[in-house]
Amino acid sequence: MREDNDVGLQTNPDASPEPGNGAGARNAAPVNVSVVDPADETAMRRWHAVFHAGLMAGLQDPPAWTLQESLVLHRAADSSMRREPFVAVDGNGDVVGAGEVQFPLRENLRLAIFEIGVPPEHRRRGVGSALYGHVVERARAEGRISLLTEVNVPDGTPHEEWPGVAFARILGFTLRNTELRRQLRLPVEPLHLRTLAGKAAQRASDYRLVSWSGPCPAEYAEQYAELKGRLSADAPLGDLDYEQEVWDVARLREAEDRTAAQGRTLFTTVAVAPDGTLAGHTQLAVPRHEPGRAYQWDTLVHAAHRGHRLGLALKVANTQALSEAHPEVTRVDTWNAVQNGPMVAVNVELGYRIMDACQEWQREL
Ligand SMILES: CC(C)(COP(=O)(O)OP(=O)(O)OC[C@H]1O[C@@H](n2cnc3c(N)ncnc32)[C@H](O)[C@@H]1OP(=O)(O)O)[C@@H](O)C(=O)NCCC(=O)NCCS
Repeated sequence: MREDNDVGLQTNPDASPEPGNGAGARNAAPVNVSVVDPADETAMRRWHAVFHAGLMAGLQDPPAWTLQESLVLHRAADSSMRREPFVAVDGNGDVVGAGEVQFPLRENLRLAIFEIGVPPEHRRRGVGSALYGHVVERARAEGRISLLTEVNVPDGTPHEEWPGVAFARILGFTLRNTELRRQLRLPVEPLHLRTLAGKAAQRASDYRLVSWSGPCPAEYAEQYAELKGRLSADAPLGDLDYEQEVWDVARLREAEDRTAAQGRTLFTTVAVAPDGTLAGHTQLAVPRHEPGRAYQWDTLVHAAHRGHRLGLALKVANTQALSEAHPEVTRVDTWNAVQNGPMVAVNVELGYRIMDACQEWQREL
């Protein structure tokens, strides 16, 4: 789940084998799966290289945590999520596959969220199945009863032919939600931005736009935390079984600290209603370790304030603020559920173009 979302539930009645008992066993090479200690820099470096090579193969300009960002993610305090990296090592001692399993700690306590990556040269020998077996084992040990994963499919590729889709299907997962990743090239033509800002102002003029970079100002923190939690309830999640996240100021500050430690600068614009309440917000992250890129994170307009073109107003203002502060940024990635018409319309108007589909697959254990 990233910014917004779709459905496309497909069932696979005749395929739900246990891990290691069929799928991938045909040409199985012996591999050992073991947990990686985040404090071990050399091991994390090997983990990251293989994880990245597996997950991002075949994607255009793929978005991913850098090694430096991953190290922080696995080492920094996070009272909402526990993350465990793991690797598959073959008989020669080479890392041939890697994964990560996440255990939400505040809500979604039924869930284990995971990703598995096997570089193309090591595929179809049972490595993915062995890694998945580890996920199932860890999920069961933690009392989790539902598994959730993502598969990224390049635009224009028939989904049924994509390895991750075939793998998820054979393991008994069903497709619950599809988001599309779109990318915007920067800078956006200033005249185009001014035209869009003018169009939004026709209906959004009662609202004041406030932008900042870095942590949320104290005066807005409580309301802002509430808006952050609302995204998981309001963004369309298709048939995903995912509970609403509950955010308070402590969670917000922890997330901001972690993001800053990762070397990412946040650019946020909020819309303030005449009575002082926050009507909506949008947020961009600019990673120090990936110069030239930015990522669109949440955008949300409170239900009571929809229909005022605030989505457009917020995004135009935030894009302008980003380009002024970081003229070196040439592209922004965003994710939207395919059925999220209003958000997609805003992004298309801004000039975002489709890169790939991010499918969310889930199964009960
Ligand atoms: C999906 C992925 C992890 C599979 O890794 P792998 O080591 O090739 O997996 P296995 O060898 O254990 O394959 C298990 C079964 O999945 C199915 N499968 C895997 N890749 C397939 C493909 N390209 N076409 C058809 N079926 C495929 C097969 O049924 C296979 O069993 P078989 O080889 O006996 O026919 C790997 O392709 C990958 O890293 N993809 C990119 C990331 C991703 O999508 N991860 C999955 C979600 S976390």
